[in-house]
Amino acid sequence: MRSVTLSLLAGLAALGRAACPVGGDASVVAHDGTAKGTYEVHNNITMYISHPPSCKPSTAAGAGDKTAILYLTDVFGLKLPQNLLLADSFARAGYLTVAPDLFNGEPAPGDINTPGFNTTLFLSLHGTNATDPIIASTISYLRTTLGVTRIGAAGYCFGGKYAFRFLEGNTNLTAQSETVDAAFTAHPSLLENEEIVAIQGPVAIAAAENDELLPLERKLEIEALLKGTGREYGVNLYSGTNHGFAVRADVSDREQRFAKEGAFLQAVRWFGEFL
Ligand SMILES: *[C@@H]1O[C@H](CO)[C@@H](O)[C@H](O)[C@H]1NC(C)=O
Ligand SMILES: *[C@@H]1O[C@H](CO)[C@@H](O)[C@H](O)[C@H]1NC(C)=O
Ligand SMILES: *[C@@H]1O[C@H](CO)[C@@H](O)[C@H](O)[C@H]1NC(C)=O
Ligand SMILES: *[C@@H]1O[C@H](CO)[C@@H](O)[C@H](O)[C@H]1NC(C)=O
Repeated sequence: MRSVTLSLLAGLAALGRAACPVGGDASVVAHDGTAKGTYEVHNNITMYISHPPSCKPSTAAGAGDKTAILYLTDVFGLKLPQNLLLADSFARAGYLTVAPDLFNGEPAPGDINTPGFNTTLFLSLHGTNATDPIIASTISYLRTTLGVTRIGAAGYCFGGKYAFRFLEGNTNLTAQSETVDAAFTAHPSLLENEEIVAIQGPVAIAAAENDELLPLERKLEIEALLKGTGREYGVNLYSGTNHGFAVRADVSDREQRFAKEGAFLQAVRWFGEFL
């Protein structure tokens, strides 16, 4: 153990500059605390924006490239503290991170079983017709206004479908010209076959053991479709987890905490390799 630590330290020292705390370092993941980003309105869309500290992400991109993470939330949107904290975690890993409000200020209530909340109605109001333009506009803001050249989409549950939709190759689905360069998604919901087969970019998935929205049989189908694309992909399955674990884990449960951190580190390593 000690010699491993020493060689790791020696390796870091050899780099001669501050590296962002990624790799196997789960301390980059914030489970609680205060969100550090700011809200800004661009292109008539409220965005939660978290800036990286002055360390460099370990990406494969060329030195001149400017990278960003497009954080696509679950149905709880920007009102769920864990979403903001995860966006901050991506920033800590070195990426400018932008999370658009996908629900115009009215995400689902924290408890989806709140009386009066109609999930069917909510999802019909936030179909692809409403959501695609918000995401396209956010990508446009990143590329045109901020000059970002490489974008990775990180999508959770509801947002996972859109990480696929905006990956290269799927512009005929979204009727938008905007795309991202790499995608990561945790427990994506409502993901359709046509959103998988045409992708021309790399995608990783973190899946839950118990997930009504993405049962294990469906996961196997998705894996077969991914294989058929001929693109790079990676799928991790975490035991002891339920739908939503990569955002809303019970971190007092050791297995869930490990899985949430594992999914985040999976994303960061994925972007480090493919973004
Ligand atoms: C801005 O977005 C709001 C919904 O959030 C909409 O009601 C309004 O019409 C939009 N304004 C413009 C100029 O697009
Ligand atoms: C929920 O919304 C759907 C779609 O608008 C509607 O058909 C259904 O009756 C609603 N359910 C309740 C309990 O209001
Ligand atoms: C999207 O379509 C649904 C019906 O399918 C409609 O209720 C909603 O207003 C539409 N949203 C937008 C932004 O066009
Ligand atoms: C989108 O385009 C790709 C590549 O041309 C094609 O394989 C795929 O079937 C298209 N998808 C749809 C829904 O048209």
